[in-house]
Amino acid sequence: MNPKERLEQYAGEVESVIRAWLPPEDGYQRTVAMAMNYSVKAGGKRLRPLFMREVYRLFAGAPGQGEENREKGKSGQSAGPEAAVEPFMAAIEMIHTFSLIHDDLPCMDNDSLRRGQPTTWVKYGYDMAVLAGDGLAICAFETAARALEVSDRPEAVARCMGLLARKSGVEGMIGGQTVDVELSGKPIDPERLDFIYRLKTGALLEVSMMIGAVLGGADEQQVEAVEKMASCVGQAFQIQDDILDVTGTTETLGKPVGSDEKNEKTTYVSLYGIEHARRAVRELSLQGKKILDSLPGDHEFLEYLIDMLITRKK
Ligand code: IPE
Ligand code: IPE
Ligand code: MG
Ligand code: MG
Ligand code: MG
Repeated sequence: MNPKERLEQYAGEVESVIRAWLPPEDGYQRTVAMAMNYSVKAGGKRLRPLFMREVYRLFAGAPGQGEENREKGKSGQSAGPEAAVEPFMAAIEMIHTFSLIHDDLPCMDNDSLRRGQPTTWVKYGYDMAVLAGDGLAICAFETAARALEVSDRPEAVARCMGLLARKSGVEGMIGGQTVDVELSGKPIDPERLDFIYRLKTGALLEVSMMIGAVLGGADEQQVEAVEKMASCVGQAFQIQDDILDVTGTTETLGKPVGSDEKNEKTTYVSLYGIEHARRAVRELSLQGKKILDSLPGDHEFLEYLIDMLITRKK
């Protein structure tokens, strides 16, 4: 299979994993479950779970290769060799979707379209969108905890849950969003802009890949290298997001263009210009790939995913 075919197949597999862990839409509280599921099911590129599983495979070996480090399925869910990483793949997409639902709220970026659909607050109301985001954030940890049922390495699972919390919270995505929101409409110096990108977007990509590494059996040095690689990828990803906010189309992106200008955000593009921003995406991707070169396993698909950051139109 070439990388393009692999992406098609893997995206389908990731989709089934994510959907398997969504809450049932029943009981008196069904509205919040419907709102949670609505935005997850609306789609998205699923890059974070894709990166997570691929980094896991770097260290654990792809299915059909060596068995040494791999999690052994015991009971419960999908009891395959990748059973422990699957709940985390769903969990990271829940956290990411929670961040998007809240990012779109009228008090944040005030956007009405996401993943080609009306945003959650437009469809279900402001109140339900806040609760749906909260619900997904909590459900992510309930889901991640289920990995304990199928893993022979509960200490690795516990560590991954701690990492997921840290990189989602004040030291990660929420911290970055805080500075992003606080400084809207105000001038930002380059250091703070980098801080925002590393936290609001970089952190969730870092933890996606770090969880893959830890569950796959990477040693400490390797986990650190993976964190650095993912940080480059995350920053490149956000700069490309800013470029597309200016050069993209709403139809392709499935979200409104011009959101940053509307909200008077300082971005890489507004601060340095489009050409410099494009160069930064290329350089950061190259830096990421250089670190990847030092890691074991088959890199082909990961390289393809990283290259997609530069060429992507959505
Ligand atoms: C959008 O993330 C928000 C950013 C961190 C830039 P994605 O571009 O991964 O959004 P989906 O998941 O594909 O909708
Ligand atoms: C958001 O950055 C990053 C998040 C943590 C959600 P943006 O506000 O630029 O993301 P989009 O463009 O709305 O997807
Ligand atoms: Mg935002
Ligand atoms: Mg936004
Ligand atoms: Mg954006």
